Amino acid sequence: MPCPLLILGLLVLAPAGSVDIRVPDDPVIAIFGRDAVLHCSFSPDASFNLTELSLIWQLTDTKRLVHSFASGQDQLADQGSGYVNRTALFYEELPRGNVSLLLRRVQISDEGSFTCFVRVHSYSSAAVTLQVAALYSKPNLNLEPSKNLKPGDLVMVTCHTFRGYPAATVLWQDGQGNNITENVTTSQVANEEGLFDVQSILRVVLEPNSTYSCLVRNSVLQQETHASVTITGQHLSFPAVALWVTVGLAICILGLLGALAYVCRKKIRQSCKEEEENAGMEEQSEDGGEPKTALQPLKSTENKEGNEHEID
Ligand SMILES: *[C@@H]1O[C@H](CO)[C@@H](O)[C@H](O)[C@H]1NC(C)=O
Ligand SMILES: *[C@@H]1O[C@H](CO)[C@@H](O)[C@H](O)[C@H]1NC(C)=O
Ligand SMILES: *[C@@H]1O[C@H](CO)[C@@H](O)[C@H](O)[C@H]1NC(C)=O
Ligand SMILES: *[C@@H]1O[C@H](CO)[C@@H](O)[C@H](O)[C@H]1NC(C)=O
Ligand SMILES: *[C@@H]1O[C@H](CO)[C@@H](O)[C@H](O)[C@H]1NC(C)=O
Ligand SMILES: *[C@@H]1O[C@H](CO)[C@@H](O)[C@H](O)[C@H]1NC(C)=O
Repeated sequence: MPCPLLILGLLVLAPAGSVDIRVPDDPVIAIFGRDAVLHCSFSPDASFNLTELSLIWQLTDTKRLVHSFASGQDQLADQGSGYVNRTALFYEELPRGNVSLLLRRVQISDEGSFTCFVRVHSYSSAAVTLQVAALYSKPNLNLEPSKNLKPGDLVMVTCHTFRGYPAATVLWQDGQGNNITENVTTSQVANEEGLFDVQSILRVVLEPNSTYSCLVRNSVLQQETHASVTITGQHLSFPAVALWVTVGLAICILGLLGALAYVCRKKIRQSCKEEEENAGMEEQSEDGGEPKTALQPLKSTENKEGNEHEID
């Protein structure tokens, strides 16, 4: 590790005037998976020779080496494993004091502070903050239950959005734009890449003609994506169409029952007559009671013809 020794040496040897390094004050926002540039520059003397430059890019917290350049070339032997093949300098810019770092295929774990350390005759360092971000997908909405909805039903409206970063703010609104983010459960789960899959569930008592909107906000990217579902009279079909269907069915069933009752009565009378005729046989039948004898033939004649054998 040449770096602590180098810094120690510089502390001792550094002349009064230090290098004037410029870095952005605000965090650099990088899109997940894309390339990012961490800007850092200084104003070299007219006599500046690139072989005099020592440059170190390292993580501010852990001092892990991200990229280094000395003696006119890259020095990557001690480079942190996560940065292999992902870093480069703008080599044609170096003579002008532009020591910005290109970081390819930004990952969530890259988020944080990077220190740009420059030594020419004197030395100086400054930190650049990298903020990683990813857009959320347009949400999907699901209703549970989704069929035969009627006013007064308790429904769960589920809003799904995927692969965003950092964590989202989820807001629910009704058709008038009122905040209905109450009785809402939101979960944000990071996948193996560190991106969030967000699920938000709204529990609501259904009203006629209601709209439920799920708004997903990524505050870093100033992104707002939303989806909404409107439950119209058509979905709430029970009072309108289904009611008449039900009434119609009820009338049919009543009619059928009436007809059945009529037929039954006729049969009962008929069987009573038969019993009177076969009065002598009654004692042989297993069932004795009066009401049962009246009922049994009815049952049997309806179900099967086997009854005749019983009676005979
Ligand atoms: C820079 O320094 C190296 C080594 O000291 C020397 O060989 C080279 O000619 C110099 N380049 C310029 C442009 O002065
Ligand atoms: C870096 O790139 C070289 C050449 O393309 C390749 O051989 C090596 O496996 C790569 N290393 C990593 C860690 O991706
Ligand atoms: C340094 O180089 C990068 C990449 O070409 C460029 O975007 C940036 O503006 C340059 N910075 C300065 C201070 O010239
Ligand atoms: C909406 O309501 C929720 C819960 O009542 C609250 O936490 C949130 O701050 C509100 N948002 C806005 C934008 O009013
Ligand atoms: C939230 O649930 C409570 C109790 O279940 C209910 O009284 C209230 O009206 C609900 N709020 C909304 C906005 O639906
Ligand atoms: C629902 O909306 C439709 C069209 O906007 C309207 O004709 C109907 O009267 C509304 N019904 C209720 C119960 O608000």
